[in-house]
Amino acid sequence: MANDRRPDTMARITTLELANSFISEQITALRNQIKDKRVLLALSGGVDSSVVAALLIKAIGKQLTCVHVNHGLLRKGESDQVISVFRGEMDANLIYVDASDRFLGKLIGISDPELKRKIIGAEFIDVFAEEARKLDGIAFLAQGTIYPDILESGPVKSHHNVGGLPKDIASRFELVEPIKFLYKDEVRVVGDALGLPHNMVYRQPFPGPGLGVRCPGAITKERLEAVRESDAILREEFAKNGLEGKVWQYFTVVPEFRSTGVKDGKRTYEWPVIIRAVNTRDAVEATVEDIPFALMQHIVRRITSEVKGVNRVLYDFTPKPTGTIEYE
Ligand code: XMP
Repeated sequence: MANDRRPDTMARITTLELANSFISEQITALRNQIKDKRVLLALSGGVDSSVVAALLIKAIGKQLTCVHVNHGLLRKGESDQVISVFRGEMDANLIYVDASDRFLGKLIGISDPELKRKIIGAEFIDVFAEEARKLDGIAFLAQGTIYPDILESGPVKSHHNVGGLPKDIASRFELVEPIKFLYKDEVRVVGDALGLPHNMVYRQPFPGPGLGVRCPGAITKERLEAVRESDAILREEFAKNGLEGKVWQYFTVVPEFRSTGVKDGKRTYEWPVIIRAVNTRDAVEATVEDIPFALMQHIVRRITSEVKGVNRVLYDFTPKPTGTIEYE
């Protein structure tokens, strides 16, 4: 597609000044394209969709409706932040859908990783399409497509983000993709210039299937909760100790097996938490981060005393290759 190539004349957005001029150009372009019509956006809280939301709010305000679907596999506090930033500070139209039980219901007993991903993806489309059908007069669908998405999927499949939407929905909308020529680092500079919170703009990568791939095998509510709570402790400690922004990706995994332990003089039979902390440039290869031993011991103490059902903490020393970054 001819309009899917970044213009050769486009300067790389590296400063707030360049970001501000990109923002004003986009505001004009968006207003010209959208006029008085309404726009719909699936807002995950990731940097791409958040930047698109913030841009559209500046350009057309309440003509934008954001839908945030909580699939129950998000990190602790993630949906709350989306709601407080966009409903609060930005005064956006935001529909919040708590579909946690619905997703978990579909995932009961499913242990195959690819099937888990497929179910999560398909359910997401279903929930979003249901919300879209309830809304009248929406003419546009906004998407956080960025330039690497276009480069990776090739010209024919460039709009893969809506690829899965049912025809009756997809055919009703025209696409709005204001950041489709930006690289990730440029999206972050634009996010800063738009006043989005630093931890939203510079957050580590987080897979679409969320904590679901960090709860290997068949997901249960209890084990998922152990993943969520241990991840929150790890993130809090990394932030407090200056590792946020220094380590590319860090998270916890709770495997299905249990082992014997002892707590308060009593035998336990509980899960381990595995910590993964890696650095990489492009996610193709990754090295393991050297975490200070005292900090590790502190994190172990916190996880084993605060997270229900856990009696051990393991550190994954495996680089990629041979281990992938995620566990499924
Ligand atoms: P792996 O595990 O293959 O991951 O070394 C490389 C990077 O991709 C992320 N990842 C995903 N992102 N949907 C996503 O949006 C997925 O299904 C998915 N699987 C892995 C992973 O977090 C890492 O940054």
